[in-house]
Amino acid sequence: MSKRIFPITTDKKQCITFIYFPTNHHSMETDFFESVYQGEPPWDIGRPQQAYMQLEQAGEIVGSVLDVGCGTGENAMYLAEHGHEAWGIDFIPAAIQKAREKAAQRHLTATFRVLNVLALHTLGRTFDTVIDSGLFHTLSDEERPLFVDNLGTVLNRGGVYFMLCVSEAEPGDYGPRRVTQAEIRESFKEGWRINYIRPATLEGRLRPSGAHGWLSSISKE
Ligand SMILES: C[S@@+](CC[C@H](N)C(=O)[O-])C[C@H]1O[C@@H](n2cnc3c(N)ncnc32)[C@H](O)[C@@H]1O
Repeated sequence: MSKRIFPITTDKKQCITFIYFPTNHHSMETDFFESVYQGEPPWDIGRPQQAYMQLEQAGEIVGSVLDVGCGTGENAMYLAEHGHEAWGIDFIPAAIQKAREKAAQRHLTATFRVLNVLALHTLGRTFDTVIDSGLFHTLSDEERPLFVDNLGTVLNRGGVYFMLCVSEAEPGDYGPRRVTQAEIRESFKEGWRINYIRPATLEGRLRPSGAHGWLSSISKE
């Protein structure tokens, strides 16, 4: 049997308490991410994802940017380097601490906060663009609509959410939950316009070729 670096989470009923009281309760999921950030997470490639560099170079990323589930901040910092006002949030303090240290070492201005994506509404501001590299595919069925509602509170009308997730084309069961195009369309069927869902690669440290994924561009109506 293949070893999983993190669980495929179709049933996360044990996380319900956490979902509704995100700042006071620990879930198995936070325990998992906390322990992974004690070492070198397999998704942390020490540079931005190619998919996000290409989006920036194509001029698709505009204005202020929020990176949800930013980890140690490589994608947000890349966009800060390219002139965007960049923020990153993640619910793991060790990840945010590392992001802040890297930004300081690189003399970059980027804002990193510890925050659960299910409490984005508490951020108190909006952005032109939101990026997601590997966050959506960690959410359970119950969390997805809560996340989408929260996402709507931090995106300006007409703003775009870019999402990079592992797709059902990825063989085996190693790694995160696979997300289908139909699931993406279902999650964003009301109040959102799907501009495209394209095959893409999620790069990782363990496999140079990366994982099969979807890159989605979704506008808030
Ligand atoms: C696969 S990692 C990707 C990290 C980063 N985006 C990158 O590309 O290196 C998923 C990230 O989402 C964060 N995360 C998962 N669930 C979250 C939640 N409910 N709120 C905030 N961050 C969350 C994890 O702590 C982790 O850093």
